[in-house]
Amino acid sequence: MLDLSHTTKTHDEERQGEAVELAPTGKSDGRKLYIESYGCQMNFSDSEIVASILIDNGFETTKDYKEADVVFINTCSIRENAEQRVRNRLKEFEAVKSKNPGLIVGVLGCMAERLKAKFLEEEKLVDVVVGPDAYRDLPNLIDKVEDGTKAVNVLLSREETYADISPVRLNSNGVSAFISIMRGCDNMCSFCVVPFTRGRERSRDAESIVREAQNLFNSGYKEVTLLGQNVDSYKYTPKVNDGEPELPTINFANLLALVAEISPELRIRFSTSHPKDITDEVLHTMAKYENICKYIHLPVQSGNSRVLELMNRTYDREWYMERVDSIRRIMPTCAISTDVITGFCTETEEEHQDTLSMMNYVKYDFAYMFAYSERPGTLAAKRFEDDIPEEIKKRRLTEIVNKQLEHSLERIQQYVGKVHKVLIEGYSKRSDKDYCGRNDQNTLVVFPVDERYKIGDYVYVLGESCTSATLIGKIVD
Ligand code: SAH
Ligand code: SF4
Ligand code: F3S
Repeated sequence: MLDLSHTTKTHDEERQGEAVELAPTGKSDGRKLYIESYGCQMNFSDSEIVASILIDNGFETTKDYKEADVVFINTCSIRENAEQRVRNRLKEFEAVKSKNPGLIVGVLGCMAERLKAKFLEEEKLVDVVVGPDAYRDLPNLIDKVEDGTKAVNVLLSREETYADISPVRLNSNGVSAFISIMRGCDNMCSFCVVPFTRGRERSRDAESIVREAQNLFNSGYKEVTLLGQNVDSYKYTPKVNDGEPELPTINFANLLALVAEISPELRIRFSTSHPKDITDEVLHTMAKYENICKYIHLPVQSGNSRVLELMNRTYDREWYMERVDSIRRIMPTCAISTDVITGFCTETEEEHQDTLSMMNYVKYDFAYMFAYSERPGTLAAKRFEDDIPEEIKKRRLTEIVNKQLEHSLERIQQYVGKVHKVLIEGYSKRSDKDYCGRNDQNTLVVFPVDERYKIGDYVYVLGESCTSATLIGKIVD
């Protein structure tokens, strides 16, 4: 049977609702924090910053929300069902709160930013609502709630990057870690709520990024993923004192090179690339460094130029194909994945066929595929009618998912019979007799444990068979 788990997963289903537990590091005053994260990797990365801030203020964390003093839920607004999932979860917390009225329930992240104080009216159990740029204020907000008032801080910032806060690595395998390199988004894709929930785009100090990656490498990590909604527009001008000469601006290609130089043993990944911004300079930098993984997540959204224009993606079908051609020319082995939305406002059957033909052109290694979900306040919600009936959106989605399954299988079959450098990330989900890791192209590889190698080692694995989502093989010397 085909394993559909990778190709049909959505961003917010991917890692939804993970709880965290870690050894207390600061001076604990016995108060316990439980935090659960939904949505994209940025949110998971933010939860690590939240944990760091609260541990510095006397908290320790727990994996069991029933024994917590503070329960936080870090939320996502990207689609209606992402918000529904959070509301359902809050209902489950209600039962605990009724037994323990002192429990503080907080909503963080994108839904907090979107709904602001309205959240307090809509969900009576919520005590505190905090947007993504206000996490430094959390200890103060918790104090307020302990003094008996509900608290809200949803101020967005043009500067906040939390550059000086060392994230507490939650649920870590000790091998791979995320590093946020920028926050916010200035793109205003018409379907997207992110510019409203995350605010203006800002790039984090390059030196603090390199330092964080170096520290991770020094403590045994072997892979970092640089995160941003649009990493290719990363841009940072180092600050200098009065009278000193100006330093050159660091772009994403420069940043990649700086992180790659830390050690050839440190793998670099990144997400997400916007097709309008990914430059040949970035592609050449990837080609130059063996340790920058040959994998690009390049969301297409639609294969039709008219729909792309309505989506305000600012590229057309030809531009996107040219970028794919450049990737193939500069890095013939590079894997490409994508995001697709079906049934965007006014999308015709022919335009949907253009998305399918784009998929045939690129033959994506993976894809995240979604039916369009109108989000209040976005440009599309204001300007266009959400006029494609749900059953048509779903039927188009099924066609796209089925096509992707064929392509994923076709791509992964090319890896059978070849040897891959794999970083051992842990034991396979199904059995602790198997290790799992990924090759350069981000394909999941599963192979029998060999006692000579441990988690965090690089090994060479011969691909012997596959499903559409996993390469199965054995270590070769
Ligand atoms: N910054 C990334 C995307 C972040 S959101 C980029 O520009 O590509 C992740 C994905 O969710 C998007 O790529 C899009 O495919 C999907 N998405 C965003 N808003 C959506 C909506 N209103 N309905 C359905 N899918 C949506
Ligand atoms: Fe949303 Fe577009 Fe920004 Fe991505 S680039 S986060 S899709 S507005
Ligand atoms: Fe969701 Fe916010 Fe990320 S809306 S996808 S958690 S930026």
